[in-house]
Parts: sequence; C-alpha cells; structure tokens
Amino acid sequence: MIDERGFKDVLSNWTSGVGIVTSCLNQIPYGMTVSSFTSVSVSPLLISICVQNRYRMCSIIGKTHCFAVNILGCNQAVLAKKFSDSQLSPEERFEGLHWQNFAARSPIIPESIAWLDCKLFDYWIIGDHTIFVGQAINGFVTGESQPLLYYQRNWYKPVLLAHANREQENLQGAAP
Ligand SMILES: Cc1cc2nc3c(=O)[nH]c(=O)nc-3n(C[C@H](O)[C@H](O)[C@H](O)COP(=O)(O)O)c2cc1C
Repeated sequence: MIDERGFKDVLSNWTSGVGIVTSCLNQIPYGMTVSSFTSVSVSPLLISICVQNRYRMCSIIGKTHCFAVNILGCNQAVLAKKFSDSQLSPEERFEGLHWQNFAARSPIIPESIAWLDCKLFDYWIIGDHTIFVGQAINGFVTGESQPLLYYQRNWYKPVLLAHANREQENLQGAAP
C-alpha cells in the first residue's frame, strides 16, 4: 500500500513546467503558482488546471469565471516561490510587479515566456482539488527565455540532449 508521502514522492519525479495562474476580482489581482497546467482539447481550445479546494484561487475563479496561465521562464523561480507562499497576501505577491491586463481579462505577469487568457469552460470538484477547464481566448509567446522546470521539489532549467536529437534525426533519415 502507498501512503500520502509515498504518493507525493512518486509524483515529484514527474517533471513539469511552472506557471502562475491569475485572476482579477474587484480590481484586486490574485495569483498562485501551479504545475498542474495541461492541454485538454484543440477544438475547442481547452486547457486545465487543478487547484486545492481550500486555496484562495478556487473561490476566486468560481466568482470571476476567468483566469490566465502565465508560463514562467527559468529566471523567475523567485516569483514562483513568492506566488506559492501561503503567508503572503494577494497584494504582497504582486508587490513591485508591473502586471498588466490590457490584452487579457486576467493579470499578465511581465517576462513570462508565454501566456493564455481563458474563460471558465467547466469545472469538477474531485477529492480535495477542483479541476478547472479554461477555454483559451487570447495568448502570446514572448520567448523571453527558456522555461522554468520543477523536479523533486527543486527548480531547474532545460538542457538540450544533442545526442538524442541526432539519433532521432538519424532514425528519421533511415525511415523508408
Ligand atoms: C512548483 C509548484 C507548483 C504548484 N502547483 C500547484 C497546483 O497545480 N495546484 C495547487 O493547488 N497548488 C499548487 N502549488 C501550491 C500553491 O501554489 C500554494 O500552496 C499557494 O500558496 C496556494 O495559494 P493561496 O495561499 O493563495 O491559497 C504549487 C506550488 C509549487 C511550489
């Protein structure tokens, strides 16, 4: 049998990108760090995030029915930590950050490498989390830097596996 600790240890081996999910309620920006961002469908354009039911973002999205996912670059680990610090208020998380929402309904984090602005499409409360499915309305790739990665509770940036790419090219070249 596996317990909660073992379950989390297994999942910590699943490497992910890191994003900040944002939404704006009564002119106040909210944001939290997520790794549960996944593409869901192309027609319509759907993505999902999974948020613990107790977290502020859960009730915020329940009210605003929209959110943005900001994909972080490898120089934004400090920001990812800030937006996952439950001791900080929403205002403190955004302090000193020149966020904007002119192109989106939800806050866009400066220097994020790409973002998607979504309206809520559907949601399901599953266990202690809620799966929010968002329909993409707008999006942009800034290409500011390489993505930030999260693996075994540590922060990384990607390394190109040149030999694997070469082997793949060779295989493709050999294909009939
Ligand atoms: C890399 C990383 C990824 C995270 N991904 C998620 C996630 O996908 N869903 C979630 O509910 N919490 C996730 N968290 C935890 C929340 O960001 C954190 O608990 C946050 O403080 C919750 O927001 P709140 O304090 O405003 O309620 C993640 C934390 C880190 C460091």
